Amino acid sequence: MLLEMKHLSLTAGDRLKVKGIIQHDAERFKIELGCGTDDIALHFNPRFDDDADGSVIVCNSKTGGSWGDEVRDTHNPLHRGRVVKLELTLAGDVFVVELPDGQQLQFPNRENVDVINYVRIAGDFKLTSFKIC
Ligand code: GAL
Repeated sequence: MLLEMKHLSLTAGDRLKVKGIIQHDAERFKIELGCGTDDIALHFNPRFDDDADGSVIVCNSKTGGSWGDEVRDTHNPLHRGRVVKLELTLAGDVFVVELPDGQQLQFPNRENVDVINYVRIAGDFKLTSFKIC
């Protein structure tokens, strides 16, 4: 699936609540926050069959079309075939993702982006609800 939203105006303190079902044969999906396809402040990318790590959450940023340094967390409490709720918070200097097991993942706001106006959710994930609060 692909959900793309433009012309948003999300700032520090705003939260995104994403709910959906990870496909039973999922390879990966992603939730991206940024200013457009070439400028992504947070690329949150759970993978279920990664060549190097198997089940892993990959995060990165993209600036002017170029990926930054990838960060990998092999703590991946997301599982194929499951319903999942994720909460992403714009906390100013970091992005915080609350995972379903109660743990948090943090990723720095590397380019100090003040306003997120682009959100994309794509991959092997069936979105059932999306909320900005
Ligand atoms: C690449 C992949 C991109 C993105 C990036 C993150 O290998 O093709 O979709 O996930 O890693 O660093």
